[in-house]
Amino acid sequence: MVISATVFQQRRALFLERLGAVAAVIPAAPLVTHHADVEHGFRQHSDFWYLTGFDEPGAVALFLPHRSEHPFVLFVEPKDPSAEVWHGFRWGCEGAVTQFGADLAHPRAELAERLAEYLKGAEGIAFRVGRHPSVEPLVLSAWAAQLDRAPRSGQAALGLVAPCPLLHQLRLRKTEDELERLREAARISAEAHELARQVARPGLNERQVQAAIEQHFLAQGARGPAYGSIVAGGDNACVLHYTSNNAPLRDGDLLLIDAGCSLSDYYNGDITRTFPVGGRFSAEQRALYDLVLAAQQAAIACVQPGADAEQVHAAAVRVLVGGLVELGLLQGEVDGLIEQGAYRHLYMHRTGHWLGLDVHDVGAYRLGEHPVPLEPGMVLTVEPGLYVSDRLPVPDGQPAIDARWKGIGIRIEDDVAVTSSGHEVLTAAALKSAEAMER
Ligand code: GLY
Ligand code: MN
Ligand code: MN
Repeated sequence: MVISATVFQQRRALFLERLGAVAAVIPAAPLVTHHADVEHGFRQHSDFWYLTGFDEPGAVALFLPHRSEHPFVLFVEPKDPSAEVWHGFRWGCEGAVTQFGADLAHPRAELAERLAEYLKGAEGIAFRVGRHPSVEPLVLSAWAAQLDRAPRSGQAALGLVAPCPLLHQLRLRKTEDELERLREAARISAEAHELARQVARPGLNERQVQAAIEQHFLAQGARGPAYGSIVAGGDNACVLHYTSNNAPLRDGDLLLIDAGCSLSDYYNGDITRTFPVGGRFSAEQRALYDLVLAAQQAAIACVQPGADAEQVHAAAVRVLVGGLVELGLLQGEVDGLIEQGAYRHLYMHRTGHWLGLDVHDVGAYRLGEHPVPLEPGMVLTVEPGLYVSDRLPVPDGQPAIDARWKGIGIRIEDDVAVTSSGHEVLTAAALKSAEAMER
């Protein structure tokens, strides 16, 4: 079940309540040029989507708690047969009201002339500066005009404030409807990983495996990949954001696949699995795989209310560093190695991120000095890895890496929801035991 109109309405009511007497201007995403006059497929801005469910470019939503008779106003591209014959259906102003719950709707072209009037009486203006170049000058000039008139009108917004803290606090805590959508994204993503393991074999090109994964996303009704799928054989897996996916798969190498789907309403999956292309781990591959899996299990075990993302990361790092010392890839005492960061040539990223409408979802990880405590409804990825290559120098005092370890890149990533009693691994259907990775 997709998120219902009632849920969008409830989100708006909560946002309006939290705004107090501040008006918010929340723009939709624009179309983005791919090359020449060709555009990328449209991707709505997640803040705008979260509050409206309106999936067209160029719109602007106003939230006006000081105008209780029409607190939700949408500016949209109006109905226009000659534009729609080229670019597709638009809901227009009438649809914005009847289908999307706007109290009033106007053509987008009227924003400049109407904005000042709508903002009149608000104590402040919530708008994210620096991100919306076509809307920002309109907001600033409406506010400037208010300030110019303030001595006689007796009112003007006192400041521009960031909408992010308010809105992103809401987005960070997922409701049950959202968790259902994330479970669906996880289901499709997990199935694609199971499929990829069946398809991959020596001699195939990485992008042939990518095709199988993304075919499954589309066949299951998802919008497509949530981010550039990473299908990385052998040493390519040591490039964290490898997306060229254009090398042949070799017997004896591992294949790292980091891929997840985005649903029609933008909820995302984000899964990484790593397995031997030829069906059997080498001794070194198996040793590192077991280590990453143990680190991931220790990190997932930390996910519970009251813990925080830094503890989750620390748990993974402790297991990895201890294991690397045992394998002779690091030398020294574990606490000291962790403190000095002497493992970072082998594990150079954090262990996870929030997940939701954005793959790297919004929400603070720290508030000042304090890590944000996990609460039921928060969803994060847990994705430790090890990447053994020559790309980064071995820190002073650490052992040179023997050739037999090089070209091994492993990451294991699951999507984990915090529950009242601990956690739920949303992506558990993607197998990850070492035995399941072999054939
Ligand atoms: N796929 C992006 C990430 O794992 O963060
Ligand atoms: Mn991730
Ligand atoms: Mn990922």
